[in-house]
Amino acid sequence: MNEHPFLAQAREVVGQANVLTQDLAAYAVDWKEKYHGQPMAVVRPGSTAEVAAVVKLCAHHRLAIVPQGGNTGMCGAATPDDSGQQVVITLGRLNRIRSVDPSNNTMTVEAGCVLQTLQETAESVNRLYPLSVGSEGSCQIGGNIATNAGGVQVLRYGNTRDLVLGLEVVLPSGEVLDLLRGLRKDNTGYDLKHLFIGSEGTLGLITAATLKLMPLPSANAVGMVAVTSPAKAVELLQHMRDAMGERFSAFELMSNPIVELTRRYFPALPQPFAEQHDWYVLMEVADGGTDAALTADFQAALEQALERELVLDVVITQSQAQAKALWELRDNVSEAQQQDAPNIKHDISLPVSQVPRFIDEVSAELATTFPGSRLFCFGHLGDGNLHFNLSRPLGSDNTLWLKNNDAVNAVVHAAVARFNGSISAEHGIGQQKVDELPRYKSALELEVMRTIKRALDPLQLMNPGKVLR
Ligand code: FAD
Ligand code: MLT
Ligand code: ZN
Repeated sequence: MNEHPFLAQAREVVGQANVLTQDLAAYAVDWKEKYHGQPMAVVRPGSTAEVAAVVKLCAHHRLAIVPQGGNTGMCGAATPDDSGQQVVITLGRLNRIRSVDPSNNTMTVEAGCVLQTLQETAESVNRLYPLSVGSEGSCQIGGNIATNAGGVQVLRYGNTRDLVLGLEVVLPSGEVLDLLRGLRKDNTGYDLKHLFIGSEGTLGLITAATLKLMPLPSANAVGMVAVTSPAKAVELLQHMRDAMGERFSAFELMSNPIVELTRRYFPALPQPFAEQHDWYVLMEVADGGTDAALTADFQAALEQALERELVLDVVITQSQAQAKALWELRDNVSEAQQQDAPNIKHDISLPVSQVPRFIDEVSAELATTFPGSRLFCFGHLGDGNLHFNLSRPLGSDNTLWLKNNDAVNAVVHAAVARFNGSISAEHGIGQQKVDELPRYKSALELEVMRTIKRALDPLQLMNPGKVLR
């Protein structure tokens, strides 16, 4: 078969070695291995100019583009379809730190920088880039921005949207939109960067960003508590916030089943308490003082929580190694579920006050409707963000179980709507929820989104089939 002329032209732009047409498996499937596609090619540009030239070629040939970062997304948003006609543009070679400005508390970085590298870059100038997710060793800042990633420090520092001051974007036309400003105040009309943050590659390709840096805490303390119920966890959240103020940075809820599952697949991880409890919360506090002073305050707040019977038991880590081990327990929950069995996954947000009632009511409904199913509930309770994942009954067939996907979603997402929540807190829509979105957004909101999409991408070439149909 004759090769598509795009391929030779793309090779001229990025070089022979950076237009891949074979061994594309790693680019053709999502992290959860739920979506499988077949790209025509994977192109790896090494500069903004190369991205722009490749996008222009795609527009010329009317080839759809699927931007891909670290490919750790949870909604199939970076996976091409199986037509063999889509071009994956992967940003990993665009990984330069363009500048770091500690006095302005900013850094300007290219989209393919791995998140962990950026955390380390910030630390090297005594600053913090606070975005923190379990996938930080492989996800890229372009993907974080395109998904408006959340993670475990949103409570204190906000979502990715709150951490971005400027962007550089290659539009679907191939023009480069330079919004790379490091300003904290700029009221010069529409703030266009926000259109691209969370747009999941449907409006343009992010090539660089100016990010906010925060003071690097000199002290931190980590603890885990056992609680009887999510209601007690919400009371505890309020108590700890009152006691620790702005030093409070993470509050992660974990049910016993998800802790036990994670320890089954990662037996070297710690068992924090001698006996099992129904619910746990992992907490972190940090400030600019000393570990000793911070730990004393943290301990005092937790002792009060024990006295008020908000918690059943408390573990405060005594070393960085112990703290790291507890965080590894939390960070490996997704990997454990992945190894266990494909589950029907939810990423929902609710008003924090409503979370306990939601968990009680919806757990009961799922147990009745899907007898024997196993609920793995955990999440960023401080932000009202739950991962509410349902796995097959033990001994049953995976493929048959996944046929319940729509029915399970109908129960969970209908409840989310009743509680005035969101069906996507931090992972996005991708292809996973694209057909559900119209049920949970007003017709007018969707039409405004489509109008923006048509204005920027009239040929509908940027990541088609994701977010909007
Ligand atoms: P990809 O998966 O490659 O792409 C995601 C989307 O962004 C796609 O739509 C893609 O087209 C688009 N995109 C990628 N790069 C660009 C670019 N340069 N320009 C335009 N569009 C682009 N997410 C959270 O929010 N919070 C968590 O706590 C969290 N924990 C995780 C833990 C694990 C173990 C794993 C595997 C994932 C986790 N995630 C979490 C999900 C995922 O890591 C995030 O969504 C992350 O932001 C995706 O980044 P990526 O580089 O892997 O993007
Ligand atoms: C997490 O909080 O661990 C992530 O969002 C990933 C997941 O939901 O599995
Ligand atoms: Zn999460």
